Amino acid sequence: MPRASTGRPTGGLLSRLGSRMYHDTHRALRNVARDIIPQGLKLRLRYLAQYPSYQMRLWRNFQYDKRRFAHWSSADGRPERRQQLQAWIGADYHKIEKALALRHPRPGFGRGVVTRLIDNLIRYQNEFGITPEPADIVPNNIIAERQTYRPGDSPPHQAIGTDDVVHIALKTIEAYLRFNREHGIEYPFLRRKLDQIAEATAARHAPHAGRAHRAHRAHREERHGQPLGQQPAALGGDGAPEATSPAHVGGGTHDIRREQVLAHARRDLAPFFASRHSIRQFAPDPVPRALIEQAVVMAQKTPSVCNRQTSRVYAFDDPIERRQVLACQRGNAGFGHEIQVALVVTSDIEAFFTVGERNQCWVDGGMFAMSLVYALHSLGLGTICLNWSVEYPLDRRLHTVAGIPASQAVIMMIGVGFLPERLRVTQSPRKALDEVLHWGMGPDE
Ligand SMILES: Cc1cc2nc3c(=O)[nH]c(=O)nc-3n(C[C@H](O)[C@H](O)[C@H](O)COP(=O)(O)O)c2cc1C
Repeated sequence: MPRASTGRPTGGLLSRLGSRMYHDTHRALRNVARDIIPQGLKLRLRYLAQYPSYQMRLWRNFQYDKRRFAHWSSADGRPERRQQLQAWIGADYHKIEKALALRHPRPGFGRGVVTRLIDNLIRYQNEFGITPEPADIVPNNIIAERQTYRPGDSPPHQAIGTDDVVHIALKTIEAYLRFNREHGIEYPFLRRKLDQIAEATAARHAPHAGRAHRAHRAHREERHGQPLGQQPAALGGDGAPEATSPAHVGGGTHDIRREQVLAHARRDLAPFFASRHSIRQFAPDPVPRALIEQAVVMAQKTPSVCNRQTSRVYAFDDPIERRQVLACQRGNAGFGHEIQVALVVTSDIEAFFTVGERNQCWVDGGMFAMSLVYALHSLGLGTICLNWSVEYPLDRRLHTVAGIPASQAVIMMIGVGFLPERLRVTQSPRKALDEVLHWGMGPDE
């Protein structure tokens, strides 16, 4: 059978000799080049040879990021999907609650924002409907009393369900109207629009809403030991009628005392920070899922832009899945097999709606990941941050392998496991303080 042509001399003594001469000459020329071409020039030539492919890769990866942001965000000014509209609603109600939390809010502030917010709520109601029963929400006064989360508990912060951002927005608007009424300003047209939403919600869910909602309230009252009608001001339930959304859904502002904060905040965290190391040797013990849940709940308190909470965590403790996920990551060679749980932290791009927010997912997701690492550390678990500094083909592959929606950017992975009795960690010294911390504006360059 004729051999496939390799482009080199083949077959027979002559051609073998020819091949030999070809290789010898090639090697000799390469050696001469290596000896006579100066190192600097060689580097320059290599740089020039690689430059076009570098530019092409850079362009393709930027295109990938750009297309993803353009497709999933609503920066084009047209929030069409449910998540996108929720982000607009969330950002607007947050503007109002932020202003209400100022020392001296200006009566009559933010009328334009509230009008847009209500119009978006009406649109949300028309296009997706508003589910009347909110998720189980822990009142803030209970949060302050409880310091630890026990598996199976409600999280130590207000948990919200899918449509509850809408209910929170409604509560915030009620707080806004109340504040203005106290200052002699009435907005009857806004009130009418709110009533319109309340009626539409009631009509849409009339056949089943009543029973489900009553059962939910009874469950909550039993759990938290207080009738829902007597919710504290913390939750916007300051005696105002429950016009459009249930009283226990948080929204607006609440007052706290300095001691409440300091009682939990003032502790020496330096040893806590110093005792966290990147762990590359894990114990073989499996990690209970409840510990991961507990850590994620703690990390959820991480601040995020307009409280949009875009971070998500995908956890893999099944050995086969874990291996498949870790196989996509390039920085766990030699220890990946010891990791007990592989976490993938992502950020949902659908929550972003301005061009300026094109990099926000990395900030919010990165901050969330850091909280998660410290939360896991506080629960006695070792962690290793695993970079997701990859190009788009690998990013696509991980999305497919791990079943992560295309609308979410992968921020990083975190390997988790218990610590073995003895282990070795890197020293990883830190820079001098004056290299990191700069006071004031500094001299002109
Ligand atoms: C985003 C991020 C990605 C990282 N990726 C890896 C990785 O892929 N493999 C690894 O062994 N370490 C990784 N690390 C760990 C760093 O090397 C480590 O944090 C650093 O050297 C400081 O050491 P320390 O964490 O023990 O203080 C990563 C850290 C961060 C924050």
